[in-house]
Amino acid sequence: MSKPKVYIIIHIEDDLEAKIRAACDAEYIDYGMPRNEFLAAIHDAEGILLSPRVRADKAFFDAAPKLKVISTSSVGYDPFDIPEATAHGVVVCHTPGVLTDAVANLTMALIFSVTLRLFDNEAYVRSGGWARREPAPPLGHDIQGKTLGVIGYGRIGQEVTRRMQALGMKTLWYDIFDTPHPAAPKSERRSLDDLLAESDFVTLHTNLDSNSRHLIGGAELAKMKPTAYLINTARGGLVDQVALAKALQDGVIAGAGLDVLEAEPPALDDPIYTLPNVVCFPHIGTATEETRRLMRELAVENLLAVLAGKMPPAPVNPEVLR
Ligand code: DGY
Repeated sequence: MSKPKVYIIIHIEDDLEAKIRAACDAEYIDYGMPRNEFLAAIHDAEGILLSPRVRADKAFFDAAPKLKVISTSSVGYDPFDIPEATAHGVVVCHTPGVLTDAVANLTMALIFSVTLRLFDNEAYVRSGGWARREPAPPLGHDIQGKTLGVIGYGRIGQEVTRRMQALGMKTLWYDIFDTPHPAAPKSERRSLDDLLAESDFVTLHTNLDSNSRHLIGGAELAKMKPTAYLINTARGGLVDQVALAKALQDGVIAGAGLDVLEAEPPALDDPIYTLPNVVCFPHIGTATEETRRLMRELAVENLLAVLAGKMPPAPVNPEVLR
C-alpha cells in the first residue's frame, strides 16, 4: 500500500522527520514560492505540517482534493478557514496546552517590563547615562494590590491569573463563555466594559476570529484608566493598532506591552518604533527550545493520528472524524 503524501512546511528535528517518513511519503516544501505555484505543489497532499504563516482558505482546500489533515505547530489557527476545512473534510489540528506556561511567562515579563520601566533603565545603563550621572528614567509602579483584567479565560488567561494572584494582584476576567473550567482560579467575572474601566492592566488571551477582530479599538481604550497598560501576547488583530497608537500618543492609556502586532513584522514607518510608552517583542510567546519542541512533537502526533484514521490529541474541528 502506498504511503500518504505529506508536505512539511516548518523546520522539524531529524527524529520527528523520521517518524513522519516511517508512515508517510514526506517532502519539504518552501512557503516562500508564489501562491499559485504553492497551490499547484500541494495538489496530491493528504497531510500538511505547517505554521500560521500559511493561509489556508477555500482556494487552498480546493487545490488539495485528497487532503485529510493540516496540522499547525501553534495554538492559534486564525489564518485557517475552519468552516471551509470542515466542508472539505479536512481536520485542522493545533497545539494547545504545551505552550501555556511559556506564553503566561512572557505575559508576566511584559507586565514587569512596562511597569518597572525595565528597558528604559537598561538603555540608561547601556548608553552610559548612569555613568554620566544623567537623570534616571521616571520611577516605575508596583503591581501588588493592582487589578489585572484578563480577557479570554482559557488555559493561558487562567495561568496568567494564577501567576499574578500569587504576586498580590486582584484579578478580573471576561470571556464570551459564561462558565470557566472548574479548575480555573477563583477570579471575579466582569462585563467587558467594567473590566476595562476597573483594570490597571488589561491582558488579552482570546482567539482571533471574525467576532474578536479589533475587540479593543478607540472606544474600548477610552474606557480604560489613563494610568492603565494594555498587554497583548495573543494576536495583533485583536487590537485596532491605529487606535492604539493614537491612544498611546494622546495619553489615553499609560502604555502597552506587545508581543503581537497586526502586521508582523511592522513596516519601518510604524509608530510602534517611536512610541516611548511601548515595549514590543517580535512574537516570542512560545520561543523557547523546550516549548517549541513540545509543539512540534504534538503537531506531528496530530498529523500522524489523522492519517492513521484515529482521533488526534488536539483537533480544532473533530466533527470531521465523527
Ligand atoms: C501560537 O502558538 O499561536 C503562537 O502565537 C505562535 O504562532
